[in-house]
Amino acid sequence: MRSFRWLVLVSVIALAAGCRSQQQQQTAAPEGPVLFGPIRDVMHMIIEPSAQVIFDSVAVSVTAAGTLEREPRTEEEWDTVLHAAMTLAEATNLVAMPGRRVSRPEDESTSAVESELPPIQIQAKIDANRALWLKHVKQLQEVAMKAYEAASQKSVQGLWDVGEPIDQACESCHLEFWYPNEKRPGPPQ
Ligand code: HEC
Repeated sequence: MRSFRWLVLVSVIALAAGCRSQQQQQTAAPEGPVLFGPIRDVMHMIIEPSAQVIFDSVAVSVTAAGTLEREPRTEEEWDTVLHAAMTLAEATNLVAMPGRRVSRPEDESTSAVESELPPIQIQAKIDANRALWLKHVKQLQEVAMKAYEAASQKSVQGLWDVGEPIDQACESCHLEFWYPNEKRPGPPQ
């Protein structure tokens, strides 16, 4: 009888401990966002394709047959541009998130061409000057929001107007962080 009581007691304690450790596990689980893709992939798979939709939405081609103006005409075509502008505007928040690395660890010393810094060096530049990184991020977000506004107002002129500023926002950040060696010297002072 005595040993039976012991057994019950031990099981109750074990059960309680089990519950507690489960609870602890739950509170210890990460509650913040899970950063899945590195900045490199966000650039290649989210930012670039959505910017491309905006760039390509308006164009003028002159052929022997005449001038062809491309612009969104149907509801669906406008919707495609609108979605791309929203994706671009929100994707800038992805690259602003603290803790998202430039590349996966195994790719840290890879760069496609010599003039591009390897991710490990880009990372060091970002860590050393996060304020500058965020300034470039904001510059892109602001023009992406203008593209969204243009698409929601179905303004073809608005789409023409944001093309160049978007391109500049990409290029100025790339020149600072990705291929700084290509920075052209400014005009003589
Ligand atoms: C806030 C800075 C910043 C802005 C703004 C930015 N980029 Fe990038 N981008 C980077 C950095 C840093 C890399 C280098 C990552 C790497 O090592 O591949 C990069 C890399 C890329 C790559 C190469 C990805 C790969 O597979 O290697 C593409 C494509 C790209 N960016 C497109 C764009 C376009 C298009 C825009 C504008 C719509 C843009 N980026 C805006 C910082 C920026």
